[in-house]
Amino acid sequence: VAPDPIPPTVAWVDGRLQLIDQRRLPNDLAFVDCSTVDEVCDAIAALVVRGAPALGATAAFGVALHARDAASARAAAARITAVRPTAVNLTVGATRAVRAAEEAEARGADVAAAVLDAAEQLARDDVTANRALGAHGASLVPDGARVLTHCNAGGLACVGYGTAVGVIRAAVEGGRRVKVWVDETRPVLQGARLTAWELTRLNIPATVVADVMAGSLLASGDVDLIVVGADRVAANGDVANKIGTYPLAVLAARHGVPFYVAAPTSSIDLATPAGTDIPVEERSPDEVLELGGHRLAPDGVGALNRAFDITPADLVTAIITEHGIVRPPYPATLPAVSGEP
Ligand code: MRU
Repeated sequence: VAPDPIPPTVAWVDGRLQLIDQRRLPNDLAFVDCSTVDEVCDAIAALVVRGAPALGATAAFGVALHARDAASARAAAARITAVRPTAVNLTVGATRAVRAAEEAEARGADVAAAVLDAAEQLARDDVTANRALGAHGASLVPDGARVLTHCNAGGLACVGYGTAVGVIRAAVEGGRRVKVWVDETRPVLQGARLTAWELTRLNIPATVVADVMAGSLLASGDVDLIVVGADRVAANGDVANKIGTYPLAVLAARHGVPFYVAAPTSSIDLATPAGTDIPVEERSPDEVLELGGHRLAPDGVGALNRAFDITPADLVTAIITEHGIVRPPYPATLPAVSGEP
């Protein structure tokens, strides 16, 4: 197998957590090392690392940095999961690490080693799951498809390979010709900066469009399908994802275009009944009022910066997971893939 042109987003190197610094892409491929829980929390808050599955692995390795016994593992997990509320993977990753600590402590084994093993396993599982998810999703992508995606749900949002971008990659690896419309994704530009970088590295034809052009593209018949990632899928199939996802789903329904959500089962949260129960992060107004450190709006004006929106389940054509493609009615079909009661 050829090496992945996108290096691992999250890795354990020489006893430290190494993260691709996503703030500096696409201009520099640079890394940030974390050796304390504080550094991990700062990296998550500043979007050095972002994207639900990548946050899950970061949380697990972050707990590993601090876990000497079960109590210290729990303390690290509590601090890390408090940093961003929406992506359920943050809790999933931290919880997996804490469970490893508790089990090791109960049997008198080395807690730090057990937590690190669990984090490494979670990181490997992420890439395996994304490849399987991609293979399932590729069956939904016809030859010649023009695919619109939003935010970055690629390798950079995971440990590797990607979810929504993974579907596109798998279709291309299967010999299909695909063209991608990349929503720039205001205000932090995960699409223009990160997805465009990945697709360019992968030699997949990509065109960046302003978010506000999606309606025009759908109206002119230039989009065959939309595929996006998820920060959390509720038990009823409602989906939290990057702000701007919901209007795309409305447009897709208006124009009869399929709207797919690529979500590993680690992002499906059956304990959250509906989208209204998902906490939506609000971020600094400066992300809206400034661009690249340059002030756009006059002093004295405020901005509202919700980082995510909720797409109701009835607008979601299908949810693509590593265990297969799930279709409505989601309350009945999601439990079968997520492996939970
Ligand atoms: O604020 P971000 O960049 O962490 O938001 C990321 C997204 O909304 C992604 O689409 C989602 O996490 C899925 S990543 C596979």
